[in-house]
Amino acid sequence: MSVRWFRPVPDAEMAVAGTDLFHAEFGTEPEGIWAAPGRVNLIGEHVDYADGLCLPIALPHSTVAAISSRTDGLIRLRSADGEPWEGRIADIGPGRPTGWAAYPAGVIWALREAGMLAGDFAGVDAVFVSTVPIGAGLSSSAALECSLALALAPDPDRASLAAACVRAENEVALAPTGGMDQAASLRATEGHALLLDSASGAVAQVPFDPASHGLALLVTDTRAPHRLVDGQYAKRRDTVERAARRLGVGSLRELADCGRDGMDAVRALRDGELRHRARHVISEIARVRLAVQALRSGDYAEFGKLLYASHLSLRLDFEVSCPELDNAVECALVTGALGARLTGGGFGGSAIALIPAGRVDEAVATTRTRAANLGLPEPSFAVVAASAPARRLA
Ligand code: GLA
Repeated sequence: MSVRWFRPVPDAEMAVAGTDLFHAEFGTEPEGIWAAPGRVNLIGEHVDYADGLCLPIALPHSTVAAISSRTDGLIRLRSADGEPWEGRIADIGPGRPTGWAAYPAGVIWALREAGMLAGDFAGVDAVFVSTVPIGAGLSSSAALECSLALALAPDPDRASLAAACVRAENEVALAPTGGMDQAASLRATEGHALLLDSASGAVAQVPFDPASHGLALLVTDTRAPHRLVDGQYAKRRDTVERAARRLGVGSLRELADCGRDGMDAVRALRDGELRHRARHVISEIARVRLAVQALRSGDYAEFGKLLYASHLSLRLDFEVSCPELDNAVECALVTGALGARLTGGGFGGSAIALIPAGRVDEAVATTRTRAANLGLPEPSFAVVAASAPARRLA
């Protein structure tokens, strides 16, 4: 059987696919087409909701929104991957609608709440086509949100747009995620990782070009069932917030900024679960700082070590890994990867590996064979570069 790859599609072809679906659904041409990418996080996992630092890149895989405005207040949403939804702004609110449409409908609601929707907004027809695999931990929902937000908000301030998308996800789709995914989709740039400081919302662009060092960034979608809304993510977030309260700080970031004293405070926590979760957050924020230094000085060997240290912390202290993710990480490492880790929320989804470009095929073969031997789902793969943020296509 041949290897399963999930491939990006060039913008021009995505625009055609969006136009075709729009035509099939609504019988006319769209007024405009926008695209927004999925993301992988290089490092800084499960720290965005603790005011921490993370370092995602935008993927070459994207969601395209083809759109026309209406004048009768109706909102009609269609996707190549889900049930159609139709309604009005008044039909949108916490938990309404459900399913995939919660994300784009939520964006319309959140933009209006923030006063960012065009003054003359009176309904919209929108179709979505995506190459970001769904449920792979690669932020297909953020790509969906950001493509529509960019299309509908006349204000080009991307930090505010990202904030509105986060509200859509938290308050309408009821997924208690942090803000990393939307920041990556809207604010990352080609050839760079985005250093996001979740405490201030400030970002910096950090050069990320493994290919110029003979390396590839391999993404393995384990195709293990992965659900962010299923309670485990919310539980982790809740535990991290409880640890902060127990330690008398507003967020664990405050302790991460205290050097050794911060970690000493965490060590003194008597509740083992709080101690382990907090240790992950504080050590992970320190690793992001080191990773940025390593990338800025072109030290990919050091960067790789930090990736694997992050994986171990997520597996042992934060307990969000699973056999499928561990398999992808271990197989990459035995094939000569400089580092590898789970990326995104965990409990399934995807892993990344920084690997000599010439050994990608070997790592892929090893991962597939071992997955099959362990009775795990057949993974799917992509080699990715840091790509462009959300943009207008036509
Ligand atoms: C998901 C969330 C993000 C972030 C990651 C873990 O992707 O959407 O906000 O918390 O998990 O780092």
